[in-house]
Amino acid sequence: MLFNPAARKLMKFLTVICFILTSTCFSTIAYAQSTPEPAQKVALVTGSTSGLGRAVALRLGAMDYFVIVHGRNRERGMEVVKEIEDSGTGGARFYGADLGSFDQVREFGAAVLNDFDRLDVLINNAGIGSAPAQRLLSEDGHELRFQVNHLSHFLLTHLLLPLLRDSSPSRIVNVSSGAQQAIDFDDVMLEKNFSGRRAYAQSKLAQILFTIDLAENLMAEDILVNTLHPATLMDTGMVRRSGARPRATIAEGVDAVMQLVIAADIGSGNYFSRQRSVRANRQAYDAAARARLWALSEELTGLARE
Ligand SMILES: NC(=O)c1ccc[n+]([C@@H]2O[C@H](COP(=O)([O-])OP(=O)(O)OC[C@H]3O[C@@H](n4cnc5c(N)ncnc54)[C@H](OP(=O)(O)O)[C@@H]3O)[C@@H](O)[C@H]2O)c1
Repeated sequence: MLFNPAARKLMKFLTVICFILTSTCFSTIAYAQSTPEPAQKVALVTGSTSGLGRAVALRLGAMDYFVIVHGRNRERGMEVVKEIEDSGTGGARFYGADLGSFDQVREFGAAVLNDFDRLDVLINNAGIGSAPAQRLLSEDGHELRFQVNHLSHFLLTHLLLPLLRDSSPSRIVNVSSGAQQAIDFDDVMLEKNFSGRRAYAQSKLAQILFTIDLAENLMAEDILVNTLHPATLMDTGMVRRSGARPRATIAEGVDAVMQLVIAADIGSGNYFSRQRSVRANRQAYDAAARARLWALSEELTGLARE
């Protein structure tokens, strides 16, 4: 009965109705109450309310994953949940959290640990691009792109590691970019010489440095960690806001991300440009720079004090 598609659809419909009727009693950041089927794989995609993350979430849903949809925009998040659930294969639930706030990241991480028994795939995809040109600060007082693109994913990944360990073999995919610039440790927050492109490229390289060290730390635990440039100038809001003309389809980026989610013999600690393993900016292979970034990230996120 539980595996009959019509019965599954009815159960999902009833749980959403129950949620609507009771939602005023809860102060949770989760907005729908479907739960994974027994043995169903669970994937979390940050920034899955639009662009690449949205398309990856839909692909995972079509492959029968239960998808934890995340972003700030509840309406767009619920549309993704509905699209996955209406397809009759996967399941989904939306969580709202602003990655510009460590408090919200911690609340999100705690909710996922509380609500799920497994996490097979974590895709750190949410991001702010090179636009706008202004230097913006996060709620915690850090340069916004460095926090949203790197620091908050560093924190979220650490919060979710116990669940990823329990679910191993599991995988982490960090969505970086071919736009990379060496981190200036004397001016990480870009107080001098700020540009949106520089802020974006520094934060994207930080994700690659993080990937290499995390992969090494998790080598013995059957958790694969890889990072990639998904495709060049996909037709997403980020690209349109930058004023560039789209040159690639979102589907190309989804294929590249999915290779890191499902391909056998993909290795760990690698940087891919689309579907090819390549070298990143040379700072990624500087062990001292990686150690410095790791220590700084632990300090800024508060993990060093735990
Ligand atoms: N587009 C490209 O050609 C390209 C190329 C290389 C790499 N990438 C990378 O691909 C990833 C996805 O980019 P995209 O092009 O799909 O961009 P997008 O369409 O702008 O989507 C960005 C996603 O990130 C979320 N997000 C942004 N700021 C957030 C915040 N403060 N807190 C929580 N979520 C936040 C957005 O959700 P809400 O709006 O709901 O907050 C949205 O779902 C990024 O990491 C980007 O660097 C893209």
